[in-house]
Amino acid sequence: MAAVTDGLDWLLDKSVVLGYSKVGPALRRAWWPADPRPGVLAGRTVVVTGASGGLGLATASGLAGLGAHVRLVGRDTERLEAAQRQLVAEVPSAQADLDVCDLSDLDAVEAYAARLREELPTLHALVHNAGVLPPERRVSPQGHELTYATHVLGPHALTFALGDLLAGGRVVVVSSGGMYAHPLPEDDYEYTRGTYSGTTAYARTKRMQVVLAERWARELDGQGTAVHSMHPGWADTPGVTDSLPGFAKVAGPILRDARGGADTVVWLVATEEPIGTGRFWHDRRARATHYAPVRVESGAARERLWQAVTEATGRP
Ligand SMILES: NC(=O)c1ccc[n+]([C@@H]2O[C@H](COP(=O)([O-])OP(=O)(O)OC[C@H]3O[C@@H](n4cnc5c(N)ncnc54)[C@H](OP(=O)(O)O)[C@@H]3O)[C@@H](O)[C@H]2O)c1
Repeated sequence: MAAVTDGLDWLLDKSVVLGYSKVGPALRRAWWPADPRPGVLAGRTVVVTGASGGLGLATASGLAGLGAHVRLVGRDTERLEAAQRQLVAEVPSAQADLDVCDLSDLDAVEAYAARLREELPTLHALVHNAGVLPPERRVSPQGHELTYATHVLGPHALTFALGDLLAGGRVVVVSSGGMYAHPLPEDDYEYTRGTYSGTTAYARTKRMQVVLAERWARELDGQGTAVHSMHPGWADTPGVTDSLPGFAKVAGPILRDARGGADTVVWLVATEEPIGTGRFWHDRRARATHYAPVRVESGAARERLWQAVTEATGRP
């Protein structure tokens, strides 16, 4: 039986449209691993970035439903307050704090990490979900290209600035299936050469996230912090309808809801199954990080990214 479901799951994945759409979880839930135990996160705190809407809010809702105390991170107080109202409507027992922090601003990230270190004795998990797809090249307060700052530099700085607060805990990086279409850039992480495309910048940095998460896993293994990256498939969120209206219109009827996109994030934070560290997931199953074994990044290219990121952030 397992061979049949393995084969079917593989076919869904390789077809892309079926696996990434709402068809994926509708079929896979017949064989995927068990739901996390009710209440498994009681007494635990989880930070979710980009939680003012979309997948981040759905993630926070799923985690709060399992008993977690969630900290919703976003750039805007009003949007966070609206998200909190929605969260409490969905999970009346939810415990949620609102944290304003612009993940693309390295000074703000350091200040936020210092606050968390002061306020919390320990942190069960950090979910890097905040994402952007800018229409033209924009830069962060420190002058870094915006997708690189938001998806790569800010998350790297936050993860390492938290230090042993995350010891024994988990880090989950929300990447994108779009990264399959792009190799790791050899250099020019700031996208200064060629004609800028927001979708290319987005996909390149989503690839960087997956490569970097594997390195974080090695770096943090000694303190018992597990690190995983994942992709949510195609989910109906403000990010998709606002940034990719053409895609949202065509794919609209088959998009998953936000809860379906967030399912594997919640599962990775909460499951008690032995899932190791340093893996890439989709729909509760570890996946290959390349669609086919071509354009795989070299060790030297990985090391160059690591050097660039540690230099730009001053971390670890
Ligand atoms: N939806 C999908 O189908 C899909 C597919 C693949 C990957 N993903 C990934 O899933 C994640 C969530 O996507 P989504 O579709 O839910 O997007 P979304 O609806 O646009 O939500 C993005 C969230 O990120 C926050 N954010 C953006 N820049 C930020 C910054 N600098 N600092 C702090 N928060 C920031 C936004 O909050 P404020 O604007 O309020 O600050 C918002 O809460 C992203 O990483 C995206 O790449 C989504």
